[in-house]
Formats: sequence, C-alpha cells, structure tokens
Amino acid sequence: MPEVPASTDPQNGALAFRRQFPIFNDKIYLSSCSQGALSLPVQAGIEEFVESWHRFGNPWDAWVERMEALRVEFARLINAQPGEVAVTFSVSNALNSLASALNYQDRPRVVTSDFDFPTVGHIWLAQQRRGAEVVFARAEAHRLAMTAFEAVVDARTALVSTTHVCYRNGFKNNVSALAELAHERGAQLLIDAYQSMGTQPMDVKALDVDILVTGALKYLLGSPGVAFMYVRRELIERFEPSDSGWFAQENVFAYDVHHLRYAPEARRFETGSPPVPNVYATLPALRMIAEVGLDTIEEHVRGLADRFIAGAADRGFELLTPTAPAERGPLVMLGASDASRLLEALARQGILCSTRDGALRVSLHYYNSAGDVDAVLTALDGLPDLVSHQPH
Ligand SMILES: Cc1ncc(COP(=O)(O)O)c(C=O)c1O
Repeated sequence: MPEVPASTDPQNGALAFRRQFPIFNDKIYLSSCSQGALSLPVQAGIEEFVESWHRFGNPWDAWVERMEALRVEFARLINAQPGEVAVTFSVSNALNSLASALNYQDRPRVVTSDFDFPTVGHIWLAQQRRGAEVVFARAEAHRLAMTAFEAVVDARTALVSTTHVCYRNGFKNNVSALAELAHERGAQLLIDAYQSMGTQPMDVKALDVDILVTGALKYLLGSPGVAFMYVRRELIERFEPSDSGWFAQENVFAYDVHHLRYAPEARRFETGSPPVPNVYATLPALRMIAEVGLDTIEEHVRGLADRFIAGAADRGFELLTPTAPAERGPLVMLGASDASRLLEALARQGILCSTRDGALRVSLHYYNSAGDVDAVLTALDGLPDLVSHQPH
C-alpha cells in the first residue's frame, strides 16, 4: 500500500492541530461545549493586540480593520457575504438588537423551544411587553420532533427562533426541515448555532436559514466577548433596531449626532465600540478552523462521538443524547447519579468535562483523539456509583 504523506493523513492533521493547544500536555479536554481550549495562535493574537496598544497608543484604524477581517472570515465560513454579518459582543446582544426591530403587529408569534438556551427564551419573553406572543415547541424526553414545531408555527408566526444543537442533551434539529416549515407558513427561521458552529459545515444559503447567531468562545475556539449574526441580504433593510448606536450607522465616523442613518448592511445590528481584544483573539481561531475545513472536522468529530456512544452503550451507561447520527453533533451526554462528584473525580484524573441538569457532558472537537474517548470511558468504568446505568 502506498504510504500516505503526513500532511494529507487526517489523523496526523488532527494530531498537529492538537499540538497547538498546550492544555493537552497534561489534561484531556472534553469541554468545548463550555469554552474552546486556548491555542498558541489565539494567544499570539491576544499578545499582538497588547503590543499594538503599547506601541501605538490608540491604533483604532488598525483595530477596526481587524474587526472587518473577522467579519470576512466568518462570512466565508458560512457561505455568506461580509455585509450579511454583524459582529457583536454576545448572542444575547445580537438577538436583542434584532428583537428591537420586530413590530409584532400582523405576526405577533415567536416560536422557540424547550431545548433552547435560556437567554433565547429570556429575550423573546422580554418582547411580550412589546406585543410578542411567545410559544414553546415542546420536547418529549430527549427529542424535539418536527411535529412539535408543526403544532405551533402558524400564519401569525413572524419567527421560528431555535437552536441547532441543544446545550443540555446534544439533540440536533433538522435545519432544512425547519426552514421549509417556517417558510411555508410565511415565517422566518433563526438558528442558534452556538453548540454546532465549528464542528460541521454550515452553508446558510444551502440550508435556507434567514438568520443565524453564534458566538466565538466554544467550538470556534475564540475568546468570550465576540458573537456573530448572519441576516439574509434581502431582509436586512426591513429591520430598524431601536437598540442601536454609532457603530450601526452608515458612516460610523461621520459623528453626526442629529441623524440616525442605519448601515445598509448587517452592521446595523451593532451598537458601540467593538470588543477589540476579543476580535484579535478570535481571528486566528477562525483561520485555524478554515484551514482544516469544516467537513474534515465533522468527519473526525462524528468518528469520536460514534466511538464514545458505542463504548457507553456496551457498558450500559445511560445515554441522554439520541444515537442517530443525524440527530446529534459534537456533544454527548450521560446520566449521572451525582454529576458534580463525577466531574470532580474525572478532573482529579486530568479529564475535564462539564455538567448540565445533573448529567455529564462530553464534547468532542478536532483536537480530541480516540485515546481521549477511551480514557474517559476507562475512567468512568472506575466510577460505577457515579454514572447512571440503563434500566434493564
Ligand atoms: C446554544 C447557546 N446559545 C447561546 C448561548 C449564550 O449566548 P451569549 O452568552 O453569547 O449571549 C450559549 C452559551 O452557553 C449557548 O450554548
């Protein structure tokens, strides 16, 4: 068999990638669903920001240029135009700006779900005082069926705002089917891709998503304090956010206090001075991900999740994540009898996971290996009292 050159062997690629994350020198990191690990290029980005501040005092032109480079990089990752992307501080910040632009008159209903991250529920519930009628698609056990959305998306629905992958059990929604349903009933579809973006291809045009939000700090491997909102080109100018500011203006540096002139691009959803240190930290992270390619990352992550699920099933552990590959992403959850003690016991062995709702979250990324999966399974074998088992 011909030898595979090192650079094209996917396993070697993942290993080279992992070497850029010093945490793996003495830990097994399985918590990207909370925060991506810190890489050397991201550290260098932070240092470059500090250096620019030291040397030039206030190089705002360069700092704003860096933010534009970040916008371009993110847009490329999701197959959008840079003008369709707002760079914000958090997902909440982006959603609040969008929500402030809805009028809820002809179509008051906003549909979200039991599986959405709380901030999404909070933001839409806060819109009730402005006339929104918030309805939740109801989950059953560990799944959110399309019928749950079909039951609540009606002709009065303005927006279906839901998650791609659920933060508390790893269930993955079918985005194309949701887009079809929303559009058929005259609504728009907003996807919160915070728990998937960075681990699988995301083509907003092919998926027919109208709005997509995500943040940089998890699987995109950037820092806290940066998030993104894609808004389909044809929709942008229909929105006039009352949650606004000078960075939302057509000409930011016109310093025109007397007039409100929204930028024609998605920048109209931005507000004040950008989070420059976080921008410097995040750009190298997005470039690392683009260099590997989201399809390569997806294949790697799926292989690891399959391995973990098979190992957990063999041992009779209680799996809370659906096993069908189409219904899950990078996060796999196991039932625990005492999740915080389990987390501590794993941490004592150098294995870093996280918990939600009394269950263990194991999240997988391109920097993880089959060895990591086997190590956590072996560690769980040694903690039988803390893991829940499938009822016989
Ligand atoms: C799916 C999802 N959406 C939103 C958020 C939070 O968004 P932000 O803090 O940027 O507003 C999280 C954070 O864990 C999340 O997992």
